[in-house]
Amino acid sequence: MIRKIALSALTAFGLSAGGAFAAGEAGHITDYDFSFEGPFGTYDQMQLQRGLQVYTEICSACHGLQYVSFRALGYEGGPDLPDDQVRAYAEFYEVFDEELDDFRPATPTDYFPQSSLENAPDLSLMAKARAGFHGPYGLGLNQLFKGMGGPEYIASLLTGYTGEEKEEAGAVLYENEAYPGTYLAMGQPLWGDDVLYEDGTEATIEQQAKDVAAFLMWTAEPQLNARKESGFIAVLFLTVLSVLLYLTNKRIWAPIKKGKAGTTPAE
Ligand code: HEC
Repeated sequence: MIRKIALSALTAFGLSAGGAFAAGEAGHITDYDFSFEGPFGTYDQMQLQRGLQVYTEICSACHGLQYVSFRALGYEGGPDLPDDQVRAYAEFYEVFDEELDDFRPATPTDYFPQSSLENAPDLSLMAKARAGFHGPYGLGLNQLFKGMGGPEYIASLLTGYTGEEKEEAGAVLYENEAYPGTYLAMGQPLWGDDVLYEDGTEATIEQQAKDVAAFLMWTAEPQLNARKESGFIAVLFLTVLSVLLYLTNKRIWAPIKKGKAGTTPAE
């Protein structure tokens, strides 16, 4: 049994260390601070709303979010948009309705569309997919020790363009310091002031990159706030339980311990 567990742990390690992402030289990832880091960190609702705006106005031209429902934009612990805004936002999109055999405006129960550009990956789970590959030899140690993962990678990717390009097999590739293979097929999407934030936040490249990275962390892990909350309650409960058990244990054994101390050992 133990051998089996050790073997599967080894295989898992082998897979992640040998995956395409660890094979090349690791890119340079900046350790950005995010509100949801640490055991008590939670999403910043305003940041998620700004990230949604960046996704909608820039990234959605190529990337889909097919596992995210519009309804989720109204959930507590997420962007938390009011119902009427969720409905209005969904109506921006068209979905194909099989019953009508025609397109109709999306409703909150529909999902975001798939990527419209064939080679652009879906972003719903990207923050998780790219979470574990950093640190020496792609072992994911930075994720473990510094909390650096998918959001840091995405923000670093968006700010990591050097301006160099090259052509390979008829496609233009762009140099990026954060990308493990150095050249990728996505041109620099953010240049600063790409969106106008309603809350007055200055839309620098870095700010927009962090906001959309936080938003994509939320799409990949919408229940983070609730998970941390129940984790905290569980730890609190276990602490109280341990103290009670310790005291009970002391009390149960007290007469016996006392008795023992009182007797002189038989010689
Ligand atoms: C003009 C189309 C286009 C736009 C706009 C665009 N992307 Fe991309 N993106 C791509 C393509 C194409 C790829 C695949 C690149 C590759 O695999 O070489 C990609 C890949 C990615 C990846 C995956 C990189 C990896 O590790 O494999 C992320 C993350 C990403 N894009 C995020 C974004 C974000 C966030 C935005 C908005 C700020 C955005 N993209 C805007 C076309 C686009």
